[in-house]
Amino acid sequence: MAAIRTPAKFFAPLAIGAPEPFKAVPTRLERMIHFLPPHNEKIRAKIKDVASQVDVVLGNLEDAIPADQKEAARRGFVSMARDNDFGTTGLWTRINCLNSPWMLDDVTEIVKEAGNKVDVIMLPKVEGPWDIHYLDQLLAQLEARHAVKRPIMIHAILETAEGVNNVELIAGASPRMHGMSLGPADLAASRGMKTTRVGGGHPDYGVLADGGKEGAARAFYQQDLWHYTVGRMVDACLAYGLKPFYGPFGDFSDSAACEAQFRNAFLQGCLGAWSLHPSQIDIAKKVFSPDVGEVKFAKRILDAMPDGTGAVMIDGKMQDDATWKQAKVIVDLARLVASKDAARGAEYGL
Ligand code: GLV
Ligand code: MG
Repeated sequence: MAAIRTPAKFFAPLAIGAPEPFKAVPTRLERMIHFLPPHNEKIRAKIKDVASQVDVVLGNLEDAIPADQKEAARRGFVSMARDNDFGTTGLWTRINCLNSPWMLDDVTEIVKEAGNKVDVIMLPKVEGPWDIHYLDQLLAQLEARHAVKRPIMIHAILETAEGVNNVELIAGASPRMHGMSLGPADLAASRGMKTTRVGGGHPDYGVLADGGKEGAARAFYQQDLWHYTVGRMVDACLAYGLKPFYGPFGDFSDSAACEAQFRNAFLQGCLGAWSLHPSQIDIAKKVFSPDVGEVKFAKRILDAMPDGTGAVMIDGKMQDDATWKQAKVIVDLARLVASKDAARGAEYGL
């Protein structure tokens, strides 16, 4: 078993003067984490408009930012953080990975210049709890030095074979953990999967139905390549009270496939996904806001069992304490959506 801090010390700040760690991940609507390249001035100029349409704005410093733009991206993120009030929209950054030449300056500069504005740091290529412990301690030292008032949380990307092996230990590494996202592109490479896609399915991954008459066509059913990893990530996150997310979907021209991938993740327990293109914002809103019919049915279950116990029949379907809990997950999420999205809230009729 890996060594962990004693329960008494687990929630103690890791540096004198650092803020108290959160005891639970703050409740916020995070249906999409919208990625922006902060070195791009034109994109920075439109940030207010974008921030009003999404749940989380993320300034990306890692992959997709060219090596010669890494410092400009870091400076751009700091200026977008300082110059804007993000209101209820979350402000995150994805820093470079721990073994890169940029990570240390990413963290030190951002906490110094914008530590009171940033909600979450996304850490890529996390391999084990030691990666979280390192960033945890460093953040505490920097928070103390720069009088940061509330802890900056860590969101790990699950995108290496070793990281998947250690997923439970990563989830339990620190009270600073916010959640995790699946990183299907890096994970595919790390595992030696034979794909060139950023997330989504593959036409050759599936099962062939048994043969009937000789020569008759046999149906082929495509399967979800990410089912296993999303399942492990969801269990690890929910066991520790963290939030699981599907990550990127790279084919911007195939919105139907993006929606299907997001929906599989939602049904399995994920709370959001990344939007890499403006068209994916509305897909994420649609998928990660519970369906109106489901919310209405769930509300009927809660209303029929006010204290959450017993058994009742609704439309021929058996309900009991367990379905009451399922219904509560959906209604709680719908209420959270309604608190930010008045139009959807009205449809839910809560
Ligand atoms: C995301 O970072 C990925 O590698 O898919
Ligand atoms: Mg990646």
